[in-house]
Amino acid sequence: MKILFITAEVAPFSHSGGLGHVCASLPIALAERGHELIVVSPRYRRLGGPSLDASEQEFWFWIDGRHHQARYATHQTGARLLHVFVDNPMFDRDGYYGDARGDFGDNLTRFALLCRAALEAPQRLGVWEGEPDVIHAHDWQAGLAPCFVNGLYRPLGLRAGSRTVFTVHNAAHQGVFPATSFPGLDLAPRHRDALVWGDALVTLKAGLSAADHVTVVSPTFARELCTPTGGFGLDALMRQRRRQGRLTGILNGIDVARFDPRADPHLPAYFERGALEGKARCKASLQRELGLPERPDAPLFVLIARMAWQKGIDLVCDALPSALRRGAQLVVMGDGDAALEARVEALARDWPEQARAWIGFDHALSMRLYASADVCLVPSRFEPCGLSQLYAMRYGALPLVRLTGGLRDTVTPWDPVARRGTGFCFTEASAAALEGALNEALSVWRADPERWRQMRDDAMARDSSWGLAADTYLEVYRGEHVPWAPARGDGMDGAPARA
Ligand code: GLC
Repeated sequence: MKILFITAEVAPFSHSGGLGHVCASLPIALAERGHELIVVSPRYRRLGGPSLDASEQEFWFWIDGRHHQARYATHQTGARLLHVFVDNPMFDRDGYYGDARGDFGDNLTRFALLCRAALEAPQRLGVWEGEPDVIHAHDWQAGLAPCFVNGLYRPLGLRAGSRTVFTVHNAAHQGVFPATSFPGLDLAPRHRDALVWGDALVTLKAGLSAADHVTVVSPTFARELCTPTGGFGLDALMRQRRRQGRLTGILNGIDVARFDPRADPHLPAYFERGALEGKARCKASLQRELGLPERPDAPLFVLIARMAWQKGIDLVCDALPSALRRGAQLVVMGDGDAALEARVEALARDWPEQARAWIGFDHALSMRLYASADVCLVPSRFEPCGLSQLYAMRYGALPLVRLTGGLRDTVTPWDPVARRGTGFCFTEASAAALEGALNEALSVWRADPERWRQMRDDAMARDSSWGLAADTYLEVYRGEHVPWAPARGDGMDGAPARA
């Protein structure tokens, strides 16, 4: 199949969160299965990764009542994987979506241009003969792509054989603009309903309504989105897509070749399941690096996340002091919301011997944190999938998570009776509930090291590779019948509800 990805982020070139990681690693897994991939994203001012080949040729796109020029830059990442970057002055800014003053005022035009230029890229670059078999758009920034296919191409008999798939990675960011911007998109009035809600034009809703098939990044998140409490206002639409058999929850994977404690170049020592001396060396070295007392017996908690309300950082600031009083160490890494950054820094100042705040993001240090940690905190208020717990388990750190979204699908809660589990869990989004889970973790750590080893062994044994998910995406791409939200274990709980 020829598969076209449209995304605002793709690691290592651009990423602010999980979207960039998934749009980097899923295409690799699909290409390994023999499919051809083009991944289109913006050419931001600050791009990481290898350098690009820039084309001189200019193309013009009509948006918002005027022509916008774009060039394509490319990087051939694998035999079957081409990265394409849309180059336009609107992307040549420091932030992806905004700056200190807030979101950029022209985001609708910027991401409409991304979608328009992406849909044309395979032909304009002359890389594929014929049309893509699949157009796979991600999150609000690419939500207009399925609408453009329906409104600008299919009426002309184009892209008729291209299946459009839209994936929601985070339903909290919906791409909300004034409804008065609709005419600027050049779509016929009959497409208005797919995009406009009251006085707002919502690009996430556009993707959800217009795509041939919708996926979200875990089965539990699919179920949550169908409920009024967990649906971010989208629940009626999600239920409709489910009744149509057009909604599927597919659990994310990670790139297990790149994220491998046996070979990760960022680690001072290597380790694997059953041979964990290297993990102890990583921990000692990290404690030295961060100026923490070098103590193997102090349980090391880490939290690596965007500083956002979603991530429950405030709960950590409230709950952690009790664990610190009992001798734990804590390292928090991330940036974002200034008030949360300040709270984390204050916590670190209050516990200079035991806690560190690292404001910003450093990939190498983040991998050393996973490799050194005993526990990785993921106390999210909501979490479509979550990747942190997957990296943590792979690197032998037990996740401590709130049971929501993909966290519920990936972590087996410690069962004090069976004395098994791959992590510690809590349900209510409160500091008290988090503290309960912290206490549970601390008591297993202190009282039962053998149990801890068993849990770590089970966590490290979890298969978080893309294998199963990539195959499920391929079924969706082919229009095959897939259970909409399979529960863990039984497989059939989520048989699709047919209209
Ligand atoms: C978003 C979600 C996260 C998910 C990631 C990749 O960042 O918040 O839960 O894992 O996208 O799909």
